[in-house]
Amino acid sequence: MSIEEDSINLTRVGPGTVMGEFMRQYWIPCAMSSELEVDGDPMRLPLMGEKLLAFRDSSGKVGIMDHRCPHRCASLFLGRNEEGGLRCVYHGWKFDAEGKCIDMPSVPDGENVRQKIHSKAYKVHERNGLIWVYMGKDQDNPPPLPDIEVTLLPEEELSIHFVYRDCNWLQALEGDIDTAHFGFLHAGTVNAEDLPEDHIYYPTVIDRAPKYEVNDTPWGTSYGAYRKLPNGEMYWRTANFMFPFWTQNPAGIFEKAVHARAWVPIDDERMMFINVYWKEALKREARPKKNGEFLDEGYRLTNNYVPNTTDWYGRWRLREVESNDWMIDRDAQRSGVNYTGMENIHLQDHAITESMGAITDHAFEHLTQADLMIARTRRRILRAALAYRDNGTPPPGTEDPEVFLQSRGGFFTADVEKSWQDAYDENMKTVLRPAAKALAD
Ligand code: FES
Ligand SMILES: [Fe+2]
Repeated sequence: MSIEEDSINLTRVGPGTVMGEFMRQYWIPCAMSSELEVDGDPMRLPLMGEKLLAFRDSSGKVGIMDHRCPHRCASLFLGRNEEGGLRCVYHGWKFDAEGKCIDMPSVPDGENVRQKIHSKAYKVHERNGLIWVYMGKDQDNPPPLPDIEVTLLPEEELSIHFVYRDCNWLQALEGDIDTAHFGFLHAGTVNAEDLPEDHIYYPTVIDRAPKYEVNDTPWGTSYGAYRKLPNGEMYWRTANFMFPFWTQNPAGIFEKAVHARAWVPIDDERMMFINVYWKEALKREARPKKNGEFLDEGYRLTNNYVPNTTDWYGRWRLREVESNDWMIDRDAQRSGVNYTGMENIHLQDHAITESMGAITDHAFEHLTQADLMIARTRRRILRAALAYRDNGTPPPGTEDPEVFLQSRGGFFTADVEKSWQDAYDENMKTVLRPAAKALAD
């Protein structure tokens, strides 16, 4: 197949597309539980190229359905969230959270008709602060939810953030499995001499062209980037891609790096970044120091949100957008206060992937040895998606959700003689498993 064809198959997510159908076989996290109130306003929820609507009914149950009323397509966004369901304000038809029509007051003797009418609703599952939706064709037989460890933890132990991004899901995801960018985009002006040797930035800035190994894994793909430390040990940074759109980055201490990040398509040209961390894993100082002082400008981890609106694309947007040049500070960039002139690490990733255009033109790229993980991941996704389309091969992890439990991203040191795989397996035996109780249940 041509690059162009592969690229279309990888990036397009609407119904009937290769990736669209493949991703629809998985549960998709799409909103935070806190975004929907009992009997509150319905919320526009565009997802996978479909215009959906979410609401929480009087019993607390969440419904997610096509925003169009199945009568004559008026938007249920304008509807009334009444006792036990959402009522279309055009002719009064009312639907419960599962999409069943439970009242049809505008039709004389409408009982027979009513029983045959359903809104186009999808299966919903709520777990630990996240709302998940299953958009697969066989709505009666959804797969189990994935055992991604961090999503098994109780909500109060989690830090969950959503950020809207104006670009295709794949290029956004690829930014998270691209080890070579860290020493430039985030740390291009940090010097090794300014850092203590045990600082988390230190290994990155002593060698900005790390070598790395890449493996296919049961959950997707993994890389281990390695650098030899001055003390003779090997420093490994492991990151993962997990089907169909999750990543784990290498930026935390492996032992407690319980986190996962979803890059969920809104449509072909928009996506939602969902960052889920175990709070305990965040208890570390990420900012580098210079002359004993923390460097702040350019190294923060906070997002600058504008207030949410009810618009289709109004949730979790940043104030920095292409039309204001992502608020780049050219003086800071020129003087070396930081490398990009952008004030925080998330923004740097955010802006750089938006700057590539709505959908990266794969035929325009020149991938190198340093992009091995990206090439391998594209191939792994494409093969799995085509195997599903052509042979009905179950998408990885849909029948064996426990494969995700063995996936962890983070950094550790190991004896130079030890292979990455051995060191990884050894570390996995002793890592903290905060979800142990949920796993045992
Ligand atoms: S369009 Fe919704 S009830 Fe008529
Ligand atoms: Fe980054």
